[in-house]
Amino acid sequence: MRKILKYLKKLRLQKKVYLKEYIPIKKTAPEKTIPVVTAWKGLELIIEDILNQFNIERGSCIEFGVEFGFSSVVFSNYFKTVKGVDIFIGDEHTTHKGDHYEQTRNSLVDFKNIELFKSDYRDWIKKDTNQYDFAHVDIVHNYKETYECGLWAVQHSKCCIFHDTDSFIEVRRAVYDIAKKTGKRVYNYPHHHGLGIIV
Ligand SMILES: C[S@@+](CC[C@H](N)C(=O)[O-])C[C@H]1O[C@@H](n2cnc3c(N)ncnc32)[C@H](O)[C@@H]1O
Repeated sequence: MRKILKYLKKLRLQKKVYLKEYIPIKKTAPEKTIPVVTAWKGLELIIEDILNQFNIERGSCIEFGVEFGFSSVVFSNYFKTVKGVDIFIGDEHTTHKGDHYEQTRNSLVDFKNIELFKSDYRDWIKKDTNQYDFAHVDIVHNYKETYECGLWAVQHSKCCIFHDTDSFIEVRRAVYDIAKKTGKRVYNYPHHHGLGIIV
């Protein structure tokens, strides 16, 4: 009963923060993925579709929130360079806590176009003035952090995606507010915990 009530509350909140549904035209499995536990599984099938639907160039990608590298490897199939920024110690919402930088670095060693940076997004965004073709935000799922990191990512990329827009109302709200502030288009893919897209 409690579970049903919680689910209904979530649906009500999601309705309040309306994001137009993203509908993929064609799903494609990327050539390379890595076998790690991740809530991102399933989203790899729509990345190429997003790049095609919005005419995104395949030069540079930046990701905030790498963890064990699943999404970074997905992006490495499509972009010349992928930068992955993470504190690599987990956060209040991740199952894994503790330093996993070496573990991730070792499992990504063969992906020569991925560069990892052990850094808090707060320090990163103070110094990086580059523009990217694509960005991904999947850090701690609070409003403040998602908004702050996400606003920078949206202002420094042509297209930015956000994971967990359906499982965390705070992330969904941040995505909605960033799109409003920047005047960009916003969509949501309502599967695999939700993927917000600002373009
Ligand atoms: C949900 S996991 C990322 C999952 C990953 N995208 C995947 O494909 O499985 C969130 C990650 O964000 C990182 N993180 C949390 N707060 C951060 C911050 N302030 N700056 C940088 N990274 C942060 C955590 O260390 C954790 O590895």
